[in-house]
Amino acid sequence: MSWMLRRAAADDLDAIMAIERSVFTSDAWSADSMARELVDEHGYYLVATPADEPDAVVAYAGLLAPRGSGQGDVQTIAVAPDARSGGLGRALMQALLAEAWRRGARDVFLEVRDDNPVGQALYRSLGFAELGRRRGYYQPDGVDALVMRAQLTAPVTGPAASVVSEVAE
Ligand SMILES: CC(C)(COP(=O)(O)OP(=O)(O)OC[C@H]1O[C@@H](n2cnc3c(N)ncnc32)[C@H](O)[C@@H]1OP(=O)(O)O)[C@@H](O)C(=O)NCCC(=O)NCCS
Repeated sequence: MSWMLRRAAADDLDAIMAIERSVFTSDAWSADSMARELVDEHGYYLVATPADEPDAVVAYAGLLAPRGSGQGDVQTIAVAPDARSGGLGRALMQALLAEAWRRGARDVFLEVRDDNPVGQALYRSLGFAELGRRRGYYQPDGVDALVMRAQLTAPVTGPAASVVSEVAE
């Protein structure tokens, strides 16, 4: 399968929310919150689609990185179950980190559920390390959040062409 990454548009909200609600069953964001994220001037949201079906969103990820702040936050990432384990999660994260670097961010933070070893493995493999823990952060489940940080010291390379055929603005 050949994938394309492109900037998310307001029109992608329904497709993103369908994945959001199916993946984050107990703590999905509201459509209003997601809609605000997609148009935030400091945000950078990407969607992934099959290269030949640019409207068929199978994954999304978002970064908040105000230029001049030196910092970024990975806001969210989700890959639809049937599109997982093919490198899309890593490709999306690499694209977010490359954008964070371009915006001058040198510290990138994120939070991940303590009971999410797959997410944690992805983040650790990209240089994120645990900074601390927020007890009971994820409600209603009462699950801790691990706070992780990656310190960027050199330009971050975008996703491999073998995984994503195109990164379109
Ligand atoms: C986490 C998630 C985004 C990974 O997406 P993906 O496209 O399956 O990930 P990739 O194929 O790019 O794999 C990246 C890394 O994730 C980890 N990983 C992926 N699938 C895994 C699995 N089944 N078991 C253990 N680790 C796994 C590995 O570290 C992998 O690196 P490797 O291929 O070098 O071993 C996806 O599982 C997902 O959407 N999960 C639900 C939502 C979520 O947890 N989001 C993060 C919230 S903070």
